[in-house]
Amino acid sequence: MIDVDAVTQRAIDVLKRNDRGGYTIPTDGLYPYQWNWDSAISALGIAEFDLDRAWQEIETLMSGQWDNGMVPQILFHTEAEGYFPGADVWNCDGPVPSSGISQPPVAVTAARLIWEKDTSLGKSRMEALLPKLRCWTDWFMRWRLDDKGAVFTRHPWEAGRDNAPDWDKSAARIDTSGVQSYIREDTKHVNSDHRPTQKDYDLYVWLLQLGRDVNWDDGAIAENTPFKVADPLMTFITLRAVRDLHALCEAFGQNTDQLAEYITVLEAGVDSIWNPEIQAYDSRDVQTGEFAGSLSCGSYLCWYAGVDRKEMRGQLRNALSRTKYPVASYDIQGAVFDPHRYWRGPTWPCVNLLIGIGLADFGVPEEPKLRRRIRELVAENGFSEYFDPITGTPAGGKSFSWTAAAWLRWARFDTHSD
Ligand code: SER
Repeated sequence: MIDVDAVTQRAIDVLKRNDRGGYTIPTDGLYPYQWNWDSAISALGIAEFDLDRAWQEIETLMSGQWDNGMVPQILFHTEAEGYFPGADVWNCDGPVPSSGISQPPVAVTAARLIWEKDTSLGKSRMEALLPKLRCWTDWFMRWRLDDKGAVFTRHPWEAGRDNAPDWDKSAARIDTSGVQSYIREDTKHVNSDHRPTQKDYDLYVWLLQLGRDVNWDDGAIAENTPFKVADPLMTFITLRAVRDLHALCEAFGQNTDQLAEYITVLEAGVDSIWNPEIQAYDSRDVQTGEFAGSLSCGSYLCWYAGVDRKEMRGQLRNALSRTKYPVASYDIQGAVFDPHRYWRGPTWPCVNLLIGIGLADFGVPEEPKLRRRIRELVAENGFSEYFDPITGTPAGGKSFSWTAAAWLRWARFDTHSD
C-alpha cells in the first residue's frame, strides 16, 4: 500500500531543498544551476503547493532570454563547483551568464497550466510573460525549423536527450578530432555506466566550440554545422507550445494569425517525422533525410502536441505489455537498448508526465495504467533522475526536482482501477 501523503511530503521536500531562491536546481552536485526544461517541469510540481513560487520559477528562467529571443538551456546565476562546461567555457553574453543553446520549450505550456490554476491571480504575470514566450517561439520558428516544418536540434544537449540513439547515425559522420581537452565532472557525481560515453562528450564539446567560434551567431552556425536532427520530442513540444500560446493570446485578446500559421507548418512537420518502417514518429537527419530508426519516449509525445494516431496507440499498448515501468527513453527491444545509460533505455518520470498530459487530453484509456506504473516506480524507488524500465532500479542523480514534480502533478493521483 502506497502512503501517498508521505511520498507527497517527500516530493515537496525535494523541491524545497533544491530551491536556490527564485529558481530550482535539478539536483545538488550533478546539476547546480538553473536548467530550462527542468525548471518548467519543476514549476508544474511547485504549483501544487505554492503558486506564487511556481510563477517565479518561469519568470526567473525568462530573465535569461537573449535579445534574439532564445532562452538558454542553462542559466549560471551563481558560481558553483563541479559542473562542466561552466559559463566560462560557453562564453556567451546574454543578460545572465548562460549556455549558448536552448532546450525544449516546455515552459510555455507550464506557464499556461499554472495560469489555468488561477487565472485572475495570474493575469498580470501572464501579461508580462506572453511577449517573451512569443519571442522565444519566433526564435524556434526562425532558426530551428527544417524545410519540411519539423523542429530540429543543433546540439544533443539542446534536444534534452543527450545520448539518445536518435543522434547515433548523424554523430558517426562527424570528425571530432579537433576537440579541445576537457575534464568531465558528471562522472565524479554518478556511476559512469549511467552517463554518456567519452565519445558522446567529445561531440558535445566539439559542437559547443563550433558555436563559440562564431560568437553564437545563429546564421553562421546554420551554415557551418554538420549536426541538424529533426526530432519528435522537439517538434511535439514546440507544437504544443505554439498551440498553448495561440490559446493564451486569444484569451488575452491578442492577434493570433501568425501563431495559426506556425501551427499549420508544424503539423506538416509532424507528418515528415513519421517513419513507416518502425511505425512510429522518429528522428530524421535534416541533411541526409535518413531516419534514425529510434522508437523513443519522444515518439509518444504526439498526444501532448494534439496529434492522435492509431499506430501510436498500438505502440503504447506494446510498451505497457513489454515492461513493468514504461515509457522507456528507448524501445526495450531496440538494437542498442541499455537499461541504465541515461537516454538509451531508462524510464524518466518527467517525460512520462508530459506523455500523460497528452494522453489525458485525448482520454486515451491507457493513461491511468501508465500513471499507476510511474506511481509505483517513484513510491517504491524514490525521486531519482531515471530508472531501469524493467526492474525499477534507480539510476543517475538522486533527489531530482522534475521527478518530484512528476509525482506531485500527476503520478500521485490514483483515479482508476485496472
Ligand atoms: N544534460 C546535460 C548534462 O548532463 C546538460 O543539459 O550536463
